[in-house]
Amino acid sequence: MKNTFLYLGFFILLLSFLSCKKELSINTVNIIPIPKLLTQKEGHFEIDQRTKIVYTADKDVERIAGFLERELTNYHLTPEFLTFDKNIKLNNSIYLELNPKLDLTKEAYHLSVTKDGFHATASNPTGLFYAYQTIKQLLPTDYSKDLAFHYLEIKDEPRFKWRGMHLDVCRHFMPKEYIKKYIDYLASLKMNSFHWHLTEDQGWRIEIKAYPKLTEIGAWRKESLIGHALTDKTKKYDGKKHGGFYTQKEIKEIVAYAKDRFINIVPEIEMPGHAQAAIASYPELGCTEEQVEVWNTWGISPYIYNVDDTTFEFLETVLEEVMALFPSKYIHIGGDEAIKNQWKSSKKIQRKIKELGLKNEHELQSYFIKRIEKFVNSKGRSIIGWDEILEGGLAPNATVMSWRGTKGGIAASKAHHYVVMSPSTHCYFDHYQSKDRDREPLAIGGFTDVEKVYSFEPVPKELNKEEAKYILGAQANVWTEYILTPDHVDYMIFPRMIALSEVLWSPVEKRDYADFLKRLIAYKEILDREGIHYAKHVFGEK
Ligand code: ACM
Repeated sequence: MKNTFLYLGFFILLLSFLSCKKELSINTVNIIPIPKLLTQKEGHFEIDQRTKIVYTADKDVERIAGFLERELTNYHLTPEFLTFDKNIKLNNSIYLELNPKLDLTKEAYHLSVTKDGFHATASNPTGLFYAYQTIKQLLPTDYSKDLAFHYLEIKDEPRFKWRGMHLDVCRHFMPKEYIKKYIDYLASLKMNSFHWHLTEDQGWRIEIKAYPKLTEIGAWRKESLIGHALTDKTKKYDGKKHGGFYTQKEIKEIVAYAKDRFINIVPEIEMPGHAQAAIASYPELGCTEEQVEVWNTWGISPYIYNVDDTTFEFLETVLEEVMALFPSKYIHIGGDEAIKNQWKSSKKIQRKIKELGLKNEHELQSYFIKRIEKFVNSKGRSIIGWDEILEGGLAPNATVMSWRGTKGGIAASKAHHYVVMSPSTHCYFDHYQSKDRDREPLAIGGFTDVEKVYSFEPVPKELNKEEAKYILGAQANVWTEYILTPDHVDYMIFPRMIALSEVLWSPVEKRDYADFLKRLIAYKEILDREGIHYAKHVFGEK
């Protein structure tokens, strides 16, 4: 009898313990960019201390599994880490399966959550990397929350091949560690192209072994303009030397870091304009024989490369070193905003125009770009340039980056040239992001808020189906005249870049701004957790 009471007491205690156990909180599904197909199902799976990571034996997949393992340590988990073999039971596991036989495009993946756990499949490690990014977004933002997940099925792949962000490190230098962070931002939003703007009037930022003065002289300016170059009547300067550059060793490290995250870096070496820092380093490259300084104000400098054979030798040597560092198929050669006044007033250049049988300076620019293209093509690479390269005749194999609206991109794709859209109306993240400029730091101008970015359609309606195939995708540009620090870059790109990622990845019929905003509010918790500075206007906050 005594025992019966004891058992009963124990049973009651057990029951009350079980009923006290708090309700499991199942993480809500908020994925940006929204997957192509997502079905939520009845039931849930819980990650616990015994959940193991299983992956196909492959060095890229192993690295991705390692990223996941590190992510799980934030939740105080130390999962067992196993390569797949037939004897492994795939219950309570996160399985990253590489299967080249699957009929999936390179960046596509499937992901399911079932009673056995997570199962990601892809035909290429790139797809598994994106599956990992999705899993990361399924994890609760709060590291102390339950690791419980709805059963679901995702079939996902990107709409566009080129999903990019640009960064100008010339107007203001950004340290190596920040470049890596920027690459992480891209990766977390399934973007794959980082356009690194490395040379400018105001600073040359890449070590070139054959021309050391480019960084000894060209990477440094005496001081910088304070205030707005156009609207502030009196010019004031800060009196502070500014500059910096990346050594080739550092560049190799960054290229490898990006490659590990399936991001291609497109380096930009500007020509024939935006060349004052190079001309300050080697005056013989210019048209006036003046010894100029690296520019200390904002705008477009009139200093432009001359067209001597020795200048082409210089540019080809630079490009040769650049191509040795960057495996990118595309090498950006700038081509924008080349003020032609110095070409117009130089007798030597005018003689050259006649000699070459050209009509004017636009045709000379076209000659310049075509000559460079020939060199780049001879090394098995392709050029991409801003839409001014259309003027005077487009180089035969050039890809066009359309920034002055979409006109240039439309013309190029109608002529069967590849195009990356980056119109300043929707893709310039140096613009203001609210109409109330008093609530924002000084910016170059414009107005591009999150909703406008989200409304951007990279394929203009003027194109037929065949022509539309030439639109590789799009990117946003971040020019840093008025952006002095990494923290400020963060403020300019977030949350606009989050909107752009969905424009570039998700099917157009999935685009729904109201739904995006709900998911963006959830994403904001990640920005807060990571201590990332962002613009708060879209959240109705100051
Ligand atoms: C540009 O904004 N000058 C390409």
